[in-house]
Amino acid sequence: MRAQVGIIGGGPSGLLLSQLLHLQGISTAVLERRSRAHVLGRIRAGVLEQGFQNLMRQAEIAQRMDREGQVHTGVNIAYQEDRLRIDLEGLTGGKTVMVYGQTEVTHDLYEARDALDGVVIDEAEDVTPHDLQSDTPYLTFRKDGAEERLDCDFVIGCDGFHGVSRQCIPDDVLQSFERVYPFGWLGVLSETPPVNEELIYARHDVGFALCSLRGPQLSRYYVQVKADENPDDWSDDAFWERLKATIPAEVAQRLVTGPSIEKSVAPLRSFVAEPLRWGRLFLAGDAAHIVPPTGAKGLNLAASDIQYLSSALIDWYKKGDSSGIDNYSARALKRVWKAERFSWWMTSLLHRFPENEGFGDRIQRAEFDYLASSKAAQTVLAENYVGLPY
Ligand code: APR
Ligand code: PHB
Repeated sequence: MRAQVGIIGGGPSGLLLSQLLHLQGISTAVLERRSRAHVLGRIRAGVLEQGFQNLMRQAEIAQRMDREGQVHTGVNIAYQEDRLRIDLEGLTGGKTVMVYGQTEVTHDLYEARDALDGVVIDEAEDVTPHDLQSDTPYLTFRKDGAEERLDCDFVIGCDGFHGVSRQCIPDDVLQSFERVYPFGWLGVLSETPPVNEELIYARHDVGFALCSLRGPQLSRYYVQVKADENPDDWSDDAFWERLKATIPAEVAQRLVTGPSIEKSVAPLRSFVAEPLRWGRLFLAGDAAHIVPPTGAKGLNLAASDIQYLSSALIDWYKKGDSSGIDNYSARALKRVWKAERFSWWMTSLLHRFPENEGFGDRIQRAEFDYLASSKAAQTVLAENYVGLPY
């Protein structure tokens, strides 16, 4: 089989790229290792920057997002009993974020690919890239026990952190930058009304907590735990107790609890690979970089990669102009590192670090007090949270 662009990974990055290129008459084939049901079953974050929303509209898949997504004009930061509202809209000249789950985004993307008869092959085993330094790279894989080959002009690694594509870049070419945090997030999804109409990020001597939501009767909460914590060791009651102890009392007393319908632990890490191109291979999304979820940047960074890469490939096919693909790595990494900085800063401000006893805690308190007293500091947070320009 043949497609102009071979895409490894059927997560949001791979599907969005496939859709954007299809709309410009460029053929693609997406090879996804897992089943579609598995991909759609993943519970992930859901705060969409303006840039991501615009890309969904450009990809002609924004109808449900615009109908069911919630526009948030503010976000809350709490420190012990103090709570500060950051006026995103007011401090950024009208920019906001959209709360709409990544699971819904992925669902809409699959629906759109099906509607256009897009080639998305799931349960594609042992996907292996070949001849990436030639003008005729290809991918081999196994589907239903049969050996298959996909010939293409470009291979795009949208296969996440544990994918195969980044490993294709030789050690003497690839540089990795990493920070692993000494804690994780225990997340719970519950069919209860959200405790607050806007997100609350809380730092407390007990640890970190986040009050988020998916809809009027679907809430998403997180508390700080050890990175290797076992979610099965946490009863729902223990989770609600910890959450109540971590958020301001005025919020805790409004909390509606209930049975969890999903419970999982995610470790926190910052990771960036450089470069994002090797010959005819390009990396995008989690295959290239990971951010701790504290800044809500994971999905949004994948989107800016895909915006840069799709416009570069369209210029290449339509105008024979290679400047976009030649500059992709440098251009994408510039925005990636700014989002890495913001995510690292939010994580450093809002979590209890074992080594922070005393001086570190006082610095965190001073950071919060400065934030609460400075419009300039609040504006910095706001413009990063709504998303820096592409
Ligand atoms: N062959 C084929 N597919 C693979 C392989 C492989 N060897 N390895 C991984 N995959 C698939 C995974 O099963 C997954 O569906 O690649 C997909 C990668 O999707 P994501 O991990 O969701 O990464 P991405 O599409 O870049 O989306 C980034 O996901 O994790 C969140 O916070 C992150 O929101 C960000 C978003
Ligand atoms: C979520 O809703 O799951 C969520 C929101 C914001 C974050 C992280 C996760 O920063």
